[in-house]
Amino acid sequence: MRVLLTGHQGYLGTVMAPRLAAAGHTVVGLDTGWFAPCVLGPEPADPDGHRVDLREVTSAHLSDVDAVVHMAALSNDPLGSLEPSLTYDINHHASVRLARLAADAGVSRFLYASTCSVYGAAGDGLVNEDAPLRPVTPYAESKVRVEDDLVAMATDSFTPVFLRNATAFGFSPRLRADIVLNNLVGHAVLSGEVRVLSDGTPWRPLVHAQDIADAFIAALAAPRDVVHCKAYNVGIEDNNLTVAQIAGHVVEAVNGSQLVITGEAGADPRSYRVDFSRIRADLGYTAQWSVKAGAVELRDAYTRYGLTRADFEQRFTRLAWLAGQGGLR
Ligand SMILES: NC(=O)c1ccc[n+]([C@@H]2O[C@H](COP(=O)([O-])OP(=O)(O)OC[C@H]3O[C@@H](n4cnc5c(N)ncnc54)[C@H](O)[C@@H]3O)[C@@H](O)[C@H]2O)c1
Repeated sequence: MRVLLTGHQGYLGTVMAPRLAAAGHTVVGLDTGWFAPCVLGPEPADPDGHRVDLREVTSAHLSDVDAVVHMAALSNDPLGSLEPSLTYDINHHASVRLARLAADAGVSRFLYASTCSVYGAAGDGLVNEDAPLRPVTPYAESKVRVEDDLVAMATDSFTPVFLRNATAFGFSPRLRADIVLNNLVGHAVLSGEVRVLSDGTPWRPLVHAQDIADAFIAALAAPRDVVHCKAYNVGIEDNNLTVAQIAGHVVEAVNGSQLVITGEAGADPRSYRVDFSRIRADLGYTAQWSVKAGAVELRDAYTRYGLTRADFEQRFTRLAWLAGQGGLR
């Protein structure tokens, strides 16, 4: 298939593009390039792409496209909360506009990168895709709004699919250090401390960036009738861990590091344990990477490529990087 991959120069997009190509797809990217220079290690080879803002996409960008994988977004809670109206403009309105253009152009499949944080404060029980959505941040709310609007757009010839990704981890050439495992390993390697800012009790489902890519590839290949207008949690139950348990894996991976739970960030309302049985049953998909293996992979990559404290705090932290570039436009 000819796949338009939005956000192809982001953390996940940079891992996904070569995996889509290896699965036999022709990939065309679309990105503003905000994080294109945020590279750790060798420069990645990006696919051909459009350097364009999602808010300015036209029907020309959708011609000759069989499927859209839509990853471009302001991609986390701190970014989303910085200027909520911009989050809704980009993450919600521009996403729905992209989907309309895609449907009008005859694109039959539209895979949307949603998030398990749509479940919000879900407590200790396992939540499946039918659980009530209780987003607690503008970022998560924007994802819910897109899902709702795309459900209303589904037709015989336009199949939206919602991939609710767990929190990602793992090495990408365009690293993000502001997601929990990547962050904790970075602190451990740079300072010998594994710093947990919450009280360590919130539940987080985690999934490796490569496993996310493979879930999208499976959703592209699946028969329409199986995936039409469905939501899928992307991850694996073994990686439903508390932040303190995640930190424990980091201490184990980074020799000599010590756990420090500061609690300075106060109570964190985002806590959810997730059920992944639907994606296993429908797509035969199982995430492969454990958090333990991911911590070792990150430790080795940070060490091999000489991660510095300055880059860890600025270049690889989405909010700090954009602030250093003059903010969002
Ligand atoms: N990383 C995670 O833990 C995680 C978890 C669940 C869902 N997701 C979703 O996956 C997607 C990708 O996340 P990521 O971690 O790669 O984030 P990222 O910030 O690394 O990448 C997002 C990409 O989108 C691009 N982008 C942002 N706004 C744009 C706009 N207006 N026009 C064009 N391009 C724009 C950015 O330049 C960037 O390359 C996002 O939709 C995110 O919400 C990520």
